[in-house]
Amino acid sequence: MGSTLGVGYAAAVRTPAPVGIPNPDAAVPAVRLSGVAKTYPARRGLPPTVALKAVDLAVRTGEFVAIVGPSGCGKSTLLRLVAGLTGADAGEVVVRGERVRGPRSDVGLAFQRPVLLPWRTVAGNLRLPAEVLRLPRDAARAREAALLDLVGLAGFGGRYPSELSGGMQQRVALARALAHDPPILLLDEPFGALDALLRERMAVELQRIWRAPVTPPSGGTAAGRSDRPAAPPTTVLLVTHSVAEAVFLADRVVTMTPRPGTIADILAVDLPRPRTLEVLDGEPFTRATAHVRRALHATGAL
Ligand SMILES: Nc1ncnc2c1ncn2[C@@H]1O[C@H](COP(=O)(O)OP(=O)(O)OP(=O)(O)O)[C@@H](O)[C@H]1O
Ligand SMILES: [Mg+2]
Repeated sequence: MGSTLGVGYAAAVRTPAPVGIPNPDAAVPAVRLSGVAKTYPARRGLPPTVALKAVDLAVRTGEFVAIVGPSGCGKSTLLRLVAGLTGADAGEVVVRGERVRGPRSDVGLAFQRPVLLPWRTVAGNLRLPAEVLRLPRDAARAREAALLDLVGLAGFGGRYPSELSGGMQQRVALARALAHDPPILLLDEPFGALDALLRERMAVELQRIWRAPVTPPSGGTAAGRSDRPAAPPTTVLLVTHSVAEAVFLADRVVTMTPRPGTIADILAVDLPRPRTLEVLDGEPFTRATAHVRRALHATGAL
């Protein structure tokens, strides 16, 4: 499909913050959920839906956490709570030390469905977060080419969503979540519409973005975080239905129970970084995926 994934990317990554410089954010979890519950109210004569109950989770700054669980167990709801798009009925959702009370500008969210504005071009869609969040537009524009290159869509900036395949639209949505270089990335099945091969390559790219966020080739500072001398590493919460993807990417894999969703198991994935696709063939990887599958089984999900 003529993708340029990876090509030209080396010039477009930011040098990570030097090791040894104290990170003021490190002491406070990037995301903390304590005793969180969420019920969607009864509607049209249908009973209320208890989506989440008693969810406790603390995610360190710079950590990559993957969430797996059966369909309908509340994974998307959990991400929406962290993004401030919906409120919890009980408990507390805290992002970077602040209780979440509404939508947050320091969070980038790629929804399960791409939700692109059909009347805007790809580039126009990428500019949306900067416009909505009233961030400096120049920095976001400067990153456009690097972001499109990153998701294998170089040269597609002038196309409209209707001119793209489902997988391409999903990659635009991923690029859009990255557009303002948010310190916290919430990704809901970002590769669901991609074929298996591209999905693997995107996972490798995502690992790279997480380790060193995208900047324009000129090396300018990233939009939204330009005021920070040494930006903290990106924290990622990834929802996926792929156990292999979860283990490949994450520092920890969280397994949820069927609805009402709560946390059934947390596995720390102790595979060295950066991880290459060869990891998928190794014994430690197989052991980790077997553990997560067993945890899913134990919840009665499979
Ligand atoms: N806006 C809403 N209004 C009413 N009920 C909702 C709403 N959003 C989600 N739900 C219900 O809450 C439950 C959890 O939904 P959610 O989308 O969080 O699940 P999920 O784990 O992301 O599922 P999937 O893996 O299929 O995407 C489901 O039963 C769903 O029907
Ligand atoms: Mg979902």
